[in-house]
Amino acid sequence: MDERLVSSQHQDDDSFLDGGLRPHNLSGYIGQKTVIDNVKVFVQAAKKNDRQLDHLLLAGPPGLGKTTLSQIIANEMGVNIYITSGPAIEKKGDLAGLLTALKEKDVLFIDEIHRLNPAVEESLYSAMEDYFFDIMLGEGAHAKSMRLPIEPFTLIGATTKTGSLSSPLRDRFQIVFRMDYYTVEELKMIVERSARILNVEIDPQGATEIASRSRGTPRIANRILKRVRDFAEVKGNGVVDLEIAKYALNQMEIDEDGLDQMDRTILMTIIDSFNGGPVGIDAIAASVSEEKRTLEEVYEPYLIKSGFLARTTKGRVVTQKTLEKFNVSPKELQRSLF
Ligand code: ADE
Repeated sequence: MDERLVSSQHQDDDSFLDGGLRPHNLSGYIGQKTVIDNVKVFVQAAKKNDRQLDHLLLAGPPGLGKTTLSQIIANEMGVNIYITSGPAIEKKGDLAGLLTALKEKDVLFIDEIHRLNPAVEESLYSAMEDYFFDIMLGEGAHAKSMRLPIEPFTLIGATTKTGSLSSPLRDRFQIVFRMDYYTVEELKMIVERSARILNVEIDPQGATEIASRSRGTPRIANRILKRVRDFAEVKGNGVVDLEIAKYALNQMEIDEDGLDQMDRTILMTIIDSFNGGPVGIDAIAASVSEEKRTLEEVYEPYLIKSGFLARTTKGRVVTQKTLEKFNVSPKELQRSLF
């Protein structure tokens, strides 16, 4: 698993922290304004008509609060939420168990829904559309098909890769929301809110510094806040100000752009060994001794989003912004060809 401080993947240490930090209702939710405004309308309409909320798909990079938002929705609807993930539902029977346990209007949240196995995914279609589940009992000549009724429920699917979702599944969601990276200003508010909950004294410059190095991701901002607080307690006077925030982030090798050592190694490798690109992902993976999938799913999204890396048909290239960051002139790149 990816244990970088700046990883947007969920880490064990986050749970305790997140527990108290996650907002419990829509009014406490910071950012994602369009999504939140729409959710408010749909929740209100569903409640007014005393019916379940329509199936909802949440797309976007990890760590932006898809699970949190789903919990809030269930809370606002006054129903239970059952949380699982695509890879965790191995067999049709597992899904049958989950679906038949749901009460009317309950929410079933499936994280990484693009990773459902095809047989399970297919059996989800009738559950979403007509609220029944066909299951085979027994095998061979004695096999019998049984139709299990399911209460009208809401499926909330979350995915980091909308492109990997099959169209029959995507089409069965009546509502699709895209969550995007948070602005520094929004993250600053989240950091200040979290600091209040954690009883940490923080000044606006300290909060801004953490926010601006958190890759647009609340999960990372909250994790960094906790670490900076440790530095403030041990090396400072307990207050998270600009100085201690800068010191702590530098000690943890997270730079002004929120990049860590591995991000910088990837970019420098493309510059030094591949003349800035274009270079294939396999060649980069071999050079930095990292798995291709990890590069693609963990490192690349933010490098691309922040404009340090671009994907072209011929391969990955570093951008002008990267050359400036590392003080490499385009001329130097040309020369290193010979
Ligand atoms: N903590 C994590 N994400 C949050 C958000 N979007 N709003 C408020 N607090 C949060």
